[in-house]
Amino acid sequence: MAVEIIRVGIVGIGTYAPERILTNFDLQQTLDTSDEWIYSRSGIRERRIVAENEATSDQALVASQRALEDAGVRPGEVDLIITATNTPDMLFPATACLLQDRLGATRAGAFDLLAGCTGFIYGVIVGAQFISAGTADTVLVTGAETMSRVINWKDRNTCVLFGDGAGAVVLRRVPDDRGILSSMLGSDGSGGKFLNMPAGGSRQPASSETLAQELNYLHMNGREVFKFAVRAMEDGASEVLRRAGLTKADVDFLVPHQANIRIIEHAAKRLKLPMERVAVNVDRYGNTSTASVPLALDEALQSGKIKDGDNVILVGFGAGLTWAGLLIKWYDAKKQG
Ligand code: ACO
Repeated sequence: MAVEIIRVGIVGIGTYAPERILTNFDLQQTLDTSDEWIYSRSGIRERRIVAENEATSDQALVASQRALEDAGVRPGEVDLIITATNTPDMLFPATACLLQDRLGATRAGAFDLLAGCTGFIYGVIVGAQFISAGTADTVLVTGAETMSRVINWKDRNTCVLFGDGAGAVVLRRVPDDRGILSSMLGSDGSGGKFLNMPAGGSRQPASSETLAQELNYLHMNGREVFKFAVRAMEDGASEVLRRAGLTKADVDFLVPHQANIRIIEHAAKRLKLPMERVAVNVDRYGNTSTASVPLALDEALQSGKIKDGDNVILVGFGAGLTWAGLLIKWYDAKKQG
């Protein structure tokens, strides 16, 4: 009996970036740092910061509405919402449920997905499984993050690196010669200690002591994460190529997680890709965690750098530690009419 392969692709995308821009020069005013240090170490010039009344679901809502409009899909047609975030509006209920209500996606199931900055790619891989299995037709995946609320603005080692933002994509079945060709998920919990927020969960509930010890903020061992990231990007990209039976020469475009330009350049070099074929916006947004890949992908699409039929790799890494890769033969729904 022939097994039917249902190919899944991204048929709509939307993003949101808060209005307020915080530059390295602004940070110099309050912190013992400099534009030169931040830019030379990370490639970041500025980042976006939410308004006082904005939280993760507010950002996810705008990105999702734009993605649905781009796909020509009504909220009532969505079967499943996956919100990848490390900064939910609150510990529970899931931010995906808040989003489901505000979107009016009355038929949708909804859950959050926690996989560090890799969450968006994890979300697309998970969402695609529902469509391939025939249990959903339309899946909305969002990566939305309010990092500015969980970083310690007194810690120059971390606060200069992150920013806020959101992205969303609509997944649907696409023609058999397009869509996701392969994917991989990785995790190594032994490295969880290198990037975490120690308090605020069941192990160390938030208390005046945890606040005094500054444990309710993101903590990171930058050097360890850097070493891991370089390996993870390489593994994610080469593994999806291997699984699809393709080689580096077949790659048309790379959309890497935007944490640090040095990590991105290393990944591009390994794939032998010139930087014109790599999405980069870390200079303007910093590390927006789960929002970084959809923000970078959207920009590449808007500027015409990704075309129908291109082999596009999405690759990322993050807290967990986690990493993941996706290889998509791009389906341009608009070109196909
Ligand atoms: N301004 C000025 N000096 C600084 C700053 C700053 N903002 N931050 C740190 N320094 C100092 C340090 O204190 C250190 O001084 P010391 O040698 O006297 O102790 C010095 O600069 C050098 O620090 P290094 O750690 O060696 O700098 P490095 O070149 O490794 O760059 C960085 C640091 C940018 C953090 C890098 O290690 C990195 O990008 N790591 C990966 C981080 C990452 O990708 N995180 C995201 C993970 S995804 C997720 O899930 C959130």
